Order: sequence, then C-alpha cells, then structure tokens
Amino acid sequence: MSFDLVLFGGTGDLAWRKIMPALFQAFRHGSLPAGGRIVGVARDGLTDTQYRELIKARFDQVELAKRPSDDEFSRFAAMLEYLRMDLSQPADYTALADKLKQRNADTVVMYLATAPGLFTTVCDQIAAAGLNGPQTRVVLEKPLGHDLASNRAINETVRRVLKEEQVFRIDHYLGKQSVQNLLALRFGNALFEPLWRRELIANIQITISEKLGIEKRGAFYDNTGALRDMVQNHALQLLCAVAMEPPIDAGADAIRDEKLKVLRSLKRWTPQTLGQHVVRGQYASGNADGEMVPGYASEKGVRPGSTTETFVALRTEIANWRWAGVPFYIRTGKRLAGQDAHIEVNFRPAAHAIYPSSLGGSNAPNRLVINLQPRDGLELHLMAQGADSRGARSAPLHTLAPVQLDLDFDKRFGSERVGAYERLLLDVIAGRLNLFVRSDEQEEAWRWVEPILDMWSADPTGPRPYAAGTWGPSAASAMIARDGYCWSEEC
Ligand code: BG6
Repeated sequence: MSFDLVLFGGTGDLAWRKIMPALFQAFRHGSLPAGGRIVGVARDGLTDTQYRELIKARFDQVELAKRPSDDEFSRFAAMLEYLRMDLSQPADYTALADKLKQRNADTVVMYLATAPGLFTTVCDQIAAAGLNGPQTRVVLEKPLGHDLASNRAINETVRRVLKEEQVFRIDHYLGKQSVQNLLALRFGNALFEPLWRRELIANIQITISEKLGIEKRGAFYDNTGALRDMVQNHALQLLCAVAMEPPIDAGADAIRDEKLKVLRSLKRWTPQTLGQHVVRGQYASGNADGEMVPGYASEKGVRPGSTTETFVALRTEIANWRWAGVPFYIRTGKRLAGQDAHIEVNFRPAAHAIYPSSLGGSNAPNRLVINLQPRDGLELHLMAQGADSRGARSAPLHTLAPVQLDLDFDKRFGSERVGAYERLLLDVIAGRLNLFVRSDEQEEAWRWVEPILDMWSADPTGPRPYAAGTWGPSAASAMIARDGYCWSEEC
C-alpha cells in the first residue's frame, strides 16, 4: 500500500521531538509500509536536501539507541521531501495537490502538527483544493480548542469537509503500551472484572507527575495550563480506560461508545464540589534534583502575574451502577518530585481482620498499580506472612506484612517496544481508529472541565504556590485526606 504523509509544521518542535523519531523507529522496525513518502511542510525556503540535513542534525539529540546510523538515515531520508507552504495561501494548496497527484498514493495522511488556530484554515483549504477525498486522513494534534465552544467550532469545520472516519484526533496517552495493557488486563482476563466495582474498590487515583518545568513552551503553556494540557485529554482518557464498561468488541466505535458513557456519567460540578474538590497550583522556585530552578513566573514567555496553573488535583465520582460513591482522584503537575505516571486501584480492606495489627503486622488493603512510566508494568500489592513489619523473619504468628507481585513489561517483552507515536502513526496509515478520540468524546470532556475554567477565571486569588521538586500544594493532600485516603507517596 503506498502512502503520502504530509507533515504540516514539518520544522516544528513536535515534528523534531516526536513525529520524525517515531517514523524512523517504524522504518527501523520494518513496520512502515514500503512505498511511502513523507513530505515536510513549513514556511522556510528549504530544498529536500536541506530538510534532510536538518532532520539528521536533530536526530543527534535523540537518545543513543534510537539514533540512526549513517546508512539507516540515508535509506530513511530517501522517503523525505519538503514543500514550502504559506498555510493561508490557496495557491500553495494547489502546489500541494500537484505534488500529491504525481504519485496518486493509496492513502494520504495530512498531519496537522501546527498551532491549533490554523486547523480550520488548513481543513477548509485542503477541501478547496480537492484534497479531502476518501483516501485522505487528517490527524489533529491536541489541544483541539481552548474550551467547548472553540472545540465545537473546529469539529464543525472538520465535519463539513471530512467524514468522521477520516479524522484522527491524537491523544498520545492512548498509544502507550501500558494503556493497551490496562484494557488487556480488564477485558482479556477473567480475574479482575468481577472485582472491578464499587463493592470492592475504595478509590482510584490517577497521577501524571513530571519533574520537568515548561521547557521552551512558555508562551504556549501560559495560554493553556495543566487542566487543558493534561486533564481534559490524557487524564480523562486514562479514567475512561479504567472505568469503562466492557465494549461489545474491540472495534473503534464500540470502545469509543463506552468511553463516552463514562464521560457523560462524570458527576456534574456544583459550587460546593468546585470549592472543595479542585486544587490548582503553580510552581515557585525550588530544588529539583539537587539544582535550584526558577519558578513558573520567571520562565520565558510567561506573562507577569500569570495565574496559569501548572498543577491540578481533583476528586470526582462516576454516577453509574458500577462506580456510584467511589472517589476518583486525578493529579498532574510540572516540576513535581517525581517523573511518574500511574493508576492506582485501591481495594477495600478485608471484610474481617483475623490477623490483628496490634501484634506488629499490618492490614493494608490490596492495591493494583498500573505503571505507565517511567516503568511500564503492573504491581499487585498483597498481604503475606513471613516477616514482621521491619522485615525480621521471626514474625510472630498471625501478623502480616505487605508483599508485591511485580510484572515489568519492559523486562518481560523487551524495552525496544513500539512507542506511543509510532503505534499511532502506523494506525493512521492503516486506517485504524481505535486509539483516536471521537469528536463527541472530546466535546464531553470539554463540557466537564469548563465549570472549573469558569470558576478559576472568576477567582482573583489565583493558584496556590508550591516549591519546585515537591508534590504540589498541601491542599491536594488535605483534599484526599478528608476522605480518609492519601496519595501513594504519602501512605
Ligand atoms: C503533552 C503535554 O501532551 O504530554 C506536555 O502537552 C506533557 O506538557 C506531555 O509534558 C507528557 O507526555 P509523556 O508521554 O511524556 O508523559
């Protein structure tokens, strides 16, 4: 099958950091279909050779194991071409159409790795140039809009010129192996599904914590913030994967229908829950890994006095039969103490404790941890007899200590596995929509976060400061402690 992949934003940050390295990995793994061409599109006046050289230079910054040898790069580079385009100029789309006609590939992927403000223009122009035929697939990067209204406006334009099955809205968390494994754990095994409900599960916590600050993305981030950057998309998609009902099959719409039901069942906000169950923070300077780092307000591109949040913690519930009353906590932030993404399923304590903790043992409830990064794996925390709480082997009879079953997918399957972007790009080329977000899901997620945005914009107090290198504002711990629970690193 031949394909043309047109990469709008072909000299941008996302192209260098994620898309080109992922395409190269797919090429190296032999999974990129033969007969493909990648056309980088940007405003710079570059020849094909100059574009290839730029990409080669950028690969020097990729981690060593993922860097091409000279020979590999020259074979990969044979697929690369460049087209200079001003995306506001209709004539430039005619030039693109001419270029695509030369090959008439079976599939044309238009990857919009551009500022989201350009999405509607590009989609309209693609259509005006007759490039929206059935062989075309359009990939839209997040953030898709700034709020519900702008998201809808983009989706309406897109719908006017493309069918839903031609639109691939990327949320790269859905491409992570660990998310595939979460679905496999739930729907490919009989063991956990009967336990996956309010009667046995006390609470579920989703943490995506980053050690890094906002890097060079100050201007973008200052207009975005953690709620739009991470919660509206990545965190809610994880919540859907953990909470959805079993789909009738593994088809794209069967899965997306179930995710949509979860989003629709999220408890609506009230003034009271908004006040008590949402914490926003912003990092101040602090010690990150032994190095003093500046606070958010001093980062390049950030407006003076900015109230943009770099941390969010929230508590919600899913109002349906399976989950009624079970708190779901979401927490994400920049410049936190750990680089860590995981989902923690905390089970209820054993119904009746026959092993008294007064003798030195403990009675911790069971816990299933789905690790997304840096390790990709599963941990099942159980209680066992064999040592006292200090690890001494002469444990008194009837005392228990926590032990853990640990499945490290990197060790089990090798760490050279398919990366999120690589998987998603191959899926677009193959036309598989399972791991992409449908417009109704996305709109529902915006509808749910919007009251939080409205509350913040009306609140002059701004975010709570937290020192870089910590776990965020103490209000996040107080919020979960009110329910009698704690975040994993505090328990
Ligand atoms: C992106 C966000 O979508 O995800 C970034 O815009 C964030 O701010 C990144 O750093 C995190 O992705 P990952 O795969 O590194 O956890």
